[in-house]
Amino acid sequence: VVDITPLYKHTGKFTYDPGFTSTASCESQITYIDGDEGVLLYRGYPIEQLAEHGDFLETCYLLLYGELPTAAEKQDFDLRVTRHTMVHEQMNRFFNGFRRDAHPMAVLVASVGALSAFYHDSTDISDPQQRLIASIRMVAKIPTLAAMAFKYSIGQPFVYPKNSLDYTSNFLHMSFSVPCEEYVPNPVLSRALDRIFILHADHEQNASTSTVRLAGSSGANPFACIAAGVACLWGPAHGGANEAALRMLEEIGSVDRIPQYIAKAKDKNDPFRLMGFGHRVYKNYDPRAKIMQRTTHEVLSELGIKDDPLLDVALELERIALSDEYFVEKKLYPNIDFYSGITLKALGFPTTMFTVLFALARTVGWIAQWKEMIEDPSQKIGRPRQLYTGFAERDYVPLGQRS
Ligand code: ACO
Repeated sequence: VVDITPLYKHTGKFTYDPGFTSTASCESQITYIDGDEGVLLYRGYPIEQLAEHGDFLETCYLLLYGELPTAAEKQDFDLRVTRHTMVHEQMNRFFNGFRRDAHPMAVLVASVGALSAFYHDSTDISDPQQRLIASIRMVAKIPTLAAMAFKYSIGQPFVYPKNSLDYTSNFLHMSFSVPCEEYVPNPVLSRALDRIFILHADHEQNASTSTVRLAGSSGANPFACIAAGVACLWGPAHGGANEAALRMLEEIGSVDRIPQYIAKAKDKNDPFRLMGFGHRVYKNYDPRAKIMQRTTHEVLSELGIKDDPLLDVALELERIALSDEYFVEKKLYPNIDFYSGITLKALGFPTTMFTVLFALARTVGWIAQWKEMIEDPSQKIGRPRQLYTGFAERDYVPLGQRS
């Protein structure tokens, strides 16, 4: 607590907590993390069990409704999501206005925000039914928008959703089918990507989720709020780390170059950090990284890739870092982004799509948190204060008298 009374004579004391390292901004029943023990629960269910036994749409239902669905509820939910996978035809023209070399995250931020211009009924946040429809629309349309951003960036025509496919296979179809050759999703790869989506679905009050809540606290419509979340996720300290981690592994290139990068990461005068390492909350192994590492092996083996030099570098980098005093002392472990890049690359996605895939999966978490906030009677507009360190009051000096 910092005494700022000399400048704020009438407002008293504030808590000064840069980066909100020890400030809870809300109550939530959605996701629990124990960073010391490496535990992650969605609505009380361990991430390991959901990733092993569940599917992504079941996880979406759980996050949105608070309980796992019955078989009938699951069937009904899957059908509702499937019915909303199309986007308005005018969205095609909207996409066509972008430069082809635009980063797909830039296109995603814009296209998600643009949904507010197409689904006016869902912008009425006072109606619980509309809030639910907006949530289902977001979960259903985000793979379509993500695949369109991808197709646009590689100069291929958009592929319409094929609703006989499951959620993740449909996304793979929209990403990899071409007019003369339909992509037939491999069930092992589709299941692996589905699991990656489960791992990314929610992570309590991280930077992008807090951004969604803050935007939503003013009463902004859900599409605008999710667009704000996508924008925040893009940063390399957050969702952009999967892209940065793969680029780093490529730059290291071979196992013998690892020690020099470890030395750079430890050098306080060098801004370099090991990307995909460290976490604000996990001071133990990120449980998602463990599952991701297994998924990487599964995907590479299904694709018949026996030796992936990037995986060799990643495994050795992890081994060396985890036995290095600097990383041990600071409790820096691999996070979810460390292995996800290798897996997504093997699945056929370019590096620029990695954060888009993260955004696709996190959309359900954002919208569940947004809904929880709107439905919380104690909800207020988010309005942090500041510790003002500028000038005290002083008189205006006319232009001609300034030296
Ligand atoms: N490499 C080297 N040193 C590191 C790293 C790293 N990846 N991460 C943290 N440190 C060091 C810092 O230099 C700092 O050292 P100091 O105490 O001597 O000053 C100490 O560990 C604590 O780091 P902070 O930056 O204060 O920790 P914070 O909780 O603010 O940051 C973050 C967490 C942003 C994730 C950080 O670990 C980082 O930049 N990691 C690399 C980027 C990354 O992988 N981001 C993905 C996060 S997971 C996600 O968003 C899904």
